[in-house]
Amino acid sequence: MCGIVGYVGQRPCSELLLGGLERLEHRGYDSAGVALLAADSTALRVRAVGGIAQLRETLQRHPQRAALRTARTGIGHTRWATHGRVSEDNAHPLTDDRGRVQIVLNGIVENHAELRARLIAEGAAFASETDAEVVAHLVARALDHDGLAEAVRRSLATLRGHFAFVVASPEQPDTLVGTRRACPLVIGHGEGERYLGSALVGLPDALTGAQALDDDEVATLEADAVRVLDRGGRPARTRRLALGARIEQATLGTHESFTLAEIAEQPRALRRTLRAAPSGPGLDELPWVQLCAARRLTIVACGTSYHAGLVGRLLLERWAGLRVEVDIASEWRYRDPAIAPGDLVLGITQSGETADTIGALRTARASGANVLALTNVPGSQVTREASAVLLTDAGAEVGVAATKTFVTQVALLAALARQLGIARGTLPDAEAERLGDELQRLPAVAEAARAAAEQPIARAAERWGRAPFFLFLGRHVGLPVALEGALKLKEIAYIPSDAYAAGEMKHGPIALLGEGTPVVCVATQSPVLDKLRSNVAEVRARGAHVLAIATEGAAGVIADEADELVLVPPTDPLLSPIPAVVPLQLLAHAISSARGLDPDRPRNLAKTVTVE
Ligand code: M6R
Repeated sequence: MCGIVGYVGQRPCSELLLGGLERLEHRGYDSAGVALLAADSTALRVRAVGGIAQLRETLQRHPQRAALRTARTGIGHTRWATHGRVSEDNAHPLTDDRGRVQIVLNGIVENHAELRARLIAEGAAFASETDAEVVAHLVARALDHDGLAEAVRRSLATLRGHFAFVVASPEQPDTLVGTRRACPLVIGHGEGERYLGSALVGLPDALTGAQALDDDEVATLEADAVRVLDRGGRPARTRRLALGARIEQATLGTHESFTLAEIAEQPRALRRTLRAAPSGPGLDELPWVQLCAARRLTIVACGTSYHAGLVGRLLLERWAGLRVEVDIASEWRYRDPAIAPGDLVLGITQSGETADTIGALRTARASGANVLALTNVPGSQVTREASAVLLTDAGAEVGVAATKTFVTQVALLAALARQLGIARGTLPDAEAERLGDELQRLPAVAEAARAAAEQPIARAAERWGRAPFFLFLGRHVGLPVALEGALKLKEIAYIPSDAYAAGEMKHGPIALLGEGTPVVCVATQSPVLDKLRSNVAEVRARGAHVLAIATEGAAGVIADEADELVLVPPTDPLLSPIPAVVPLQLLAHAISSARGLDPDRPRNLAKTVTVE
């Protein structure tokens, strides 16, 4: 969370920084700011509450806009607030009380309270409520004895937490210094210019090269030189990043939002991801010997990726006979999961940057596990943590709500389960062939699901869009879909909703139901469809109104119990989450839109969650 950029070079850089921040805005949009070192070596800082559009307006009205436009060194930030409310005072860049340094930081300084108390006791005056401001004061104080890079390296030793930050100082106007610990920071090289950024996507297309920093390395950038030192102050060898590996930028087309465009794009995203099917992209590089011999696999993930992991468990258990555990990364990493050398741990993260998923994989690797990653972003942090990587090819997902990345994650997990089933001898040839055909049909199935859902979902949104609460129910393979539907409704339509295993409903949540409460049932084909039918009847008997997602040709009794029925095309039952999730994505979007909300940038959220 939070996006940071920095530039040093021959060109005026304010526009370059703003462009980079726009491309990183998915990391946070509470406030934004830049600090530019003007030709007379003064630092000009401009900050605004809101997104980059608000920052642009503020810059245009700024009394020193001419000086701002000519600066050739600068840093920028787009914020997702952690410590300190959303305000201009808390917006980055932050500075020390003598204005000696300007810093932008992504992440959290965990010992900020004790550092702040110590600095105040030494006479420092703080101007913000942020944790990050302590870094500005520490570096500024170290500048009394050292140059900027050494001042950063010394300060780093006193900081606890996970962060990446970039520092500029009017005392060294042709230099930028950046460092990171567990949050990403990359260096970009151009002709006579150098960049720092939270991700490659924040840097311009016309780079000649890029490098990734490792934990506690300190990079000093000048227009035509980069020097990287490790935590001991020795020259470090950084990893080169492949520039060709960037993913395509998204386009809105004729859609009213990126979220809707991305829902519509799911068939294409599936087709690209399954292009190399039946084996699927990345499958060839997997450690097949370990996978075949493994007794268990642990999947760790957050949010929507966790829901994909729940579907993956069913697929891998059924098709590959593998014992699978799935856990929320932020919980699993602090348990005692008894990981042993040789165990397999798979992290699923579309962004490849989620702090807790990366932290969990590091814990697994430290215990000797074989670490695998499934991500949508080549070159992202998770690809550097894992020994083998599975790549979805959903293209850039701009909407904060995950849509096309979810269906591609499920499809790739299915391709993995099928391939593993073949390798482990748990899938007979004929069944493997049938499932290969089903995988190939998924893009068409997803397309048909969208076409069939549009009208009934529009009716349902009209009818229930003002309801104060929704309950989502599912069983077996329908449960992760119900969880995902409730998450979408919460995050983009702000409607309180809960998702429950339908068989568990009578153990508590049924008390929530009253006359007219909307209940969304994921009732596609599954081994427990008959049981689910009874649960739907129980809901109806309490006066709830039922929106059922059912499989065409197998809607049966569900159709009689439903107030609104959405039919999705048939596929293998374990692949049904792909068509079944589409109506739920459309429902959340339709209600968000009817309420006049911005589905692409829901309040309080960010696309990339780099804080724990
Ligand atoms: O990048 P990741 O897949 O690791 O992100 C995990 C969650 O933050 C993410 O799925 C989040 O829940 C989405 N906003 C859901 O739509």
